[in-house]
Amino acid sequence: MSQSPPVPVRHYLQFTDLTADDYAHLFARTAEIKRKFKAYEKYHPLADRTLAMIFEKASTRTRVSFEAGMYQLGGSVVHLTTGDSQLGRSEPIEDSARVISRMTALVMIRTYGQDKIERFAAHSRVPVINGLTNEFHPCQILADIFTYIEHRGAIAGKVVAWVGDGNNMANTWLQAAELLGFTVHLSTPSGYEVDQAVAGLRSAESYKIFKDPEDACRGADLVTTDVWTSMGYEAENEARKKAFADWCVDEAMMQVAKPDALFMHCLPAHRGEEVSAEVIDGPQSVVWDEAENRMHVQKALMEFLLLGRVKS
Ligand code: CP
Ligand code: NVA
Repeated sequence: MSQSPPVPVRHYLQFTDLTADDYAHLFARTAEIKRKFKAYEKYHPLADRTLAMIFEKASTRTRVSFEAGMYQLGGSVVHLTTGDSQLGRSEPIEDSARVISRMTALVMIRTYGQDKIERFAAHSRVPVINGLTNEFHPCQILADIFTYIEHRGAIAGKVVAWVGDGNNMANTWLQAAELLGFTVHLSTPSGYEVDQAVAGLRSAESYKIFKDPEDACRGADLVTTDVWTSMGYEAENEARKKAFADWCVDEAMMQVAKPDALFMHCLPAHRGEEVSAEVIDGPQSVVWDEAENRMHVQKALMEFLLLGRVKS
């Protein structure tokens, strides 16, 4: 038998897998779990639970935040990569899911196509969390929105400027905007636009498209960007460097945003490419809080998936 959770199995494969009400709960729990961490208060609700982490792409933050977070909740982790497991030797994803989910309580996967994580989840007895796919990065947006709330309060009604690639981060911001009631100002180079169908959006009501990235930043409450070349797209690097040259968040872009606008970046960053050093290392940047919050939000997420709505 598996370590069946006391709550029905729910996966977190994309941002829309949870409701606005679930997010309100998660943000409140994150604040409480973060407070306990800062106060060195022991909190072990996941004692004897094991998280399997499967990485088919590189990671620093996702690995450290999930691994440290699970230990802090009293549980343990197993770390697998394509190269050192049978995943890299063509064992079917469905068989891997059946086996891994009999021995663990929770699975986190970072991989390429969203279809792969969906196939894994369809054959898993335990909740599966998306640790980044080509299409989505929900744990990152969870951390970003928590960070916004910590610094500025509610995000509903606010404007988030996205400057850069129409990638996994952009898709997830758009899903979050639709669900939580804010607007995304999108500016991507031609040929790198968001595909509304891939992003899984219901309508085009929660975003506006701008040709000029500076126009996207005008009046924004939050300006955010990401690498020009995401993992898995390295062969396009040279073409992307040319296409994205004007999509660098610099001081001129921050100046047209609201005076108290924040800057975020999921990291890793390339200073001088998608963001200038002045902006990422400047006073409006909250990228280190954002990175730390990955751990706090994911602890709240793991608690929620395994124990349901724990009261604060
Ligand atoms: N932001 C993020 O997911 O970072 P890693 O690639 O280091 O995990
Ligand atoms: N869009 C980037 C995010 C890295 C955390 C990538 O997919 O490589």
